Amino acid sequence: MIRTEPAPAKINLALHVTGRRADGYHLLDSLVVFTALGDRVTVAPGPAALTVTGPFADAVPTGEKNLCLRALRHVGMQAAVTLEKNLPPASGIGGGTADAAAVLRALGAAPDRPETLGADLPACLLSRPLRMQGVGERITPVALPDLHLVLVNPRVETPTPAVFAALERRDSAPLPDLPALADAAALTEWLSATRNDLQPPALGLRPVIADCLAALSAQNAGLARMSGSGATCFGIFADAPAAEGAAQAIAAAQPGWWVRATVTIPGLPSGGAGG
Ligand code: C5P
Repeated sequence: MIRTEPAPAKINLALHVTGRRADGYHLLDSLVVFTALGDRVTVAPGPAALTVTGPFADAVPTGEKNLCLRALRHVGMQAAVTLEKNLPPASGIGGGTADAAAVLRALGAAPDRPETLGADLPACLLSRPLRMQGVGERITPVALPDLHLVLVNPRVETPTPAVFAALERRDSAPLPDLPALADAAALTEWLSATRNDLQPPALGLRPVIADCLAALSAQNAGLARMSGSGATCFGIFADAPAAEGAAQAIAAAQPGWWVRATVTIPGLPSGGAGG
């Protein structure tokens, strides 16, 4: 059977680094959402193989390192995978991990210790609003209002290990408890008391991230922040027309950047892993 699965972009609305494990991995406390925008994965019967299409196809490694193929090996399954790569790679919004999760969902596979494939993999398997703790393996679904977002990426890849290595503070408090949030404005207000601890080290490595944040703020984003280890930044806007207007203005001023308006999703159309 041929199956197609969305691989939604992952956005860390807040990310606190609360400690470090003996093996060097960092303990996180992150509020995570997924967007209508994403890659798309199709699996068909056949020997393990990968074909990549889409605007960022050239940037995807197709050999042994590719996370879709590693996911197949992890669960001992074979499939011919076609990946439509719409998201810029190495950009803090899930990317390869989201693709691997989509392959596993398409095959109905329930992997053992999915976080060993990528810290974001347990979150991407669910692709719904959630709190992520531990190194990514502790997942708690949460109820959040929909958010209209603008995503801005300056088209410089930002390697996650380098950002973690440049991190100076690893002792943040956990996220404050999440109250019932009536609307996007209440969520934005709550987020203003949180941060992304990876933003300062990423800014040090990629100063252009400051320009992305400034561009979102200049469009009156309710909050402008970096996602994951960057370099993609998000801005929160009041509604879809406001987000689309801001995206158009930023794209016109910075034709070399990747800029998209999108909206967060309450969950996957199929209802979750294997569904
Ligand atoms: O698992 P993932 O591929 O996302 O991690 C990439 C790198 O980021 C790891 O090799 C590690 O250096 C760093 N990392 C970390 N703590 C985490 C997640 C990632 O130190 N919780």
